[in-house]
Amino acid sequence: MTEDDIRTQVAPHQHKLGGTIHALHQLMRAYGYIHPEHLPVVADVFNISVAEVRGIVSFYEDFKTHPPAATTIRICQAEACQAVGSRELTKELETAYQTKLGRRGNDIELEAVYCLGLCATGPAVQVNDRLIAKASVEKLQVPG
Ligand code: FES
Repeated sequence: MTEDDIRTQVAPHQHKLGGTIHALHQLMRAYGYIHPEHLPVVADVFNISVAEVRGIVSFYEDFKTHPPAATTIRICQAEACQAVGSRELTKELETAYQTKLGRRGNDIELEAVYCLGLCATGPAVQVNDRLIAKASVEKLQVPG
């Protein structure tokens, strides 16, 4: 990844409303995460400080600053899913994959999310790009 590669990803968003956010999403799509080398390029293109870019990246949970795990399991922690067992499911998944919510285990990362749009059929979980309603450990079928 060269500076020119990064600039090629970022520059098309320079004059858009909310362009910095669009540019960071583009870097996530292209590289899977925001690398420290991305920050000064984004800052330069948008004429803001590196600290401002870092602040945006740290504020939004969707912007990752480490390479993604092979499997990311996002477990809804919002009220409707809590009412039907998302906290218990979270504990079961932590035990099954020997990791904790917000930490990365053996190629599996468990993340909290606050609504996946499946409120009536919770607990809701997203495994990489796949949405799962009425989720259970058995239903996820993720290699551990
Ligand atoms: S509250 Fe869990 S999907 Fe909406």
